[in-house]
Amino acid sequence: MSKKFDSIPMADLVGQYHGIKKEIQKAINEVLESGRFILGPQVRALEEELAAYCEAKHAIACNSGTDALQLALMALGVGPDDEVITTPFTFVATAEVIGILGAKPVFVDIDPVTYNIDPSQIEKAVTKKTKAIIPVHLYGQPADMDAILAVAKKHKLPVIEDAAQAVGATYKGRKVCSFGVMACLSFFPSKNLGAYGDGGMILTADPELEKKIRVIANHGQDKRYHHSLLGINSRLDTIQAAILQVRLRHLDAWSEARMDRAALYTELLKPLDVIPPAIAETCTHVFHQYSIRVKNRDRLQDKLQEAGIATAIHYPIPLHLQPAFRHYGKGEGSLPVAESVAKEVLSLPMYPELEEEKIQYIVDQIAGFLKS
Ligand SMILES: Cc1ncc(COP(=O)(O)O)c(C=O)c1O
Repeated sequence: MSKKFDSIPMADLVGQYHGIKKEIQKAINEVLESGRFILGPQVRALEEELAAYCEAKHAIACNSGTDALQLALMALGVGPDDEVITTPFTFVATAEVIGILGAKPVFVDIDPVTYNIDPSQIEKAVTKKTKAIIPVHLYGQPADMDAILAVAKKHKLPVIEDAAQAVGATYKGRKVCSFGVMACLSFFPSKNLGAYGDGGMILTADPELEKKIRVIANHGQDKRYHHSLLGINSRLDTIQAAILQVRLRHLDAWSEARMDRAALYTELLKPLDVIPPAIAETCTHVFHQYSIRVKNRDRLQDKLQEAGIATAIHYPIPLHLQPAFRHYGKGEGSLPVAESVAKEVLSLPMYPELEEEKIQYIVDQIAGFLKS
C-alpha cells in the first residue's frame, strides 16, 4: 500500500495548541504571576462558565473525571453492600469507582444501535440494594435519558450522568449534564474539552450536594482543619482551570468541526460494508470518537496501521469480562450485545482539524481492504 501521508494520528493536540497558543500562554502567565496555584479565582470562574454552558446550576472542579465519579458516589453515601447499575461498554473508570467504594457494579447490556446502556434492561437489574444508575454518553452521544429517568423515578434512584465524552451534546434540545442528579466531566487532554493535564468536574442542580462535594473534595474540610466528613484531595489546578477557560471559548466551533468530519466519513463510507455511527433522532452527537463497526476489525486495524493511519478500539473487552470485574458474577455470554459490539468496533482518527483529504484517504484504505 503506498502511503499518501506519513501518519494520521487519532487526535492532534499539538496542532490544536498552536492555533490558540497566544491565548493559552497569556492565561498560564496570569496564574504564574498571581502565585495562586491551588483554588485560584480561575477555578471558580471556570465552574461558573461550565455550569452555564451545561445548563446546570452548580459545578465543582476536581482532579479528574474518575474523581468526579467517585465524588458523586461518595456524596450519595454509596459504600459496601450497595449496588450501582451501569454499562459494561465504557472506559473502566465508570465502574472502577463503584468497586473502589466497596459497592458492586451491576452491568446491564447496551443498545445495539447507539451502544449506550439499554434502558429496558435497567429495571430488571434493580434490587433493594441499588443506590444509583450511571449511564454513559458514549463516544459523545447522549444515552436515552427519558427512558432512564423514567425507571429511576419509578424506583426513586438517583442518576449520575457520565458525560466524560459528551460535553456539549444535546438530548431533546437540552445539554447533557442537566438531566441527572449529578453529572461528571473529564478534562483528560484528548477529550473534546481537554486540559493540559488531568481534570474533572461534577455538575448538579442540588445546592446541598454541591456543598457536600466541595467538602469531600477538599479533605472533608468544612473550615480550616475542621474535617466533618471523610474526604479526599481532589482539586483542579488553577493553571488547568485557566487553560480550560480559554479552550471552552473554542469548544462549540470544535464540536461543529467534529460533526462536519463525522458527516463526511459517514457519507464516504456509505457504499462500504461497515456500520457507521448512528445518531439518535433526539440527540446531537459531539463525536469524541467516530467508531465504525466492521467484520475482520483486527485485520483492518493492522492494514490501516501499515498505511500510517492510527486507530483505536473503544473498548476491546466489556468490563464484566475484565479480570478485575469477573468476580461480580457476569460471565461470558451474559451481556451478548456488548460482547459482540466489542469485537467489531474501530475508532477512526477524529479531531476538529482533520483535513478532508485525509478522511478520503482513510476511507480509500478501508475500501481497499474490504475489496481484497
Ligand atoms: C466514559 C468515561 N468515564 C470516565 C472517564 C475518566 O476520566 P479521567 O481520565 O479524567 O479520570 C473517562 C475518560 O478517561 C471516560 O471516557
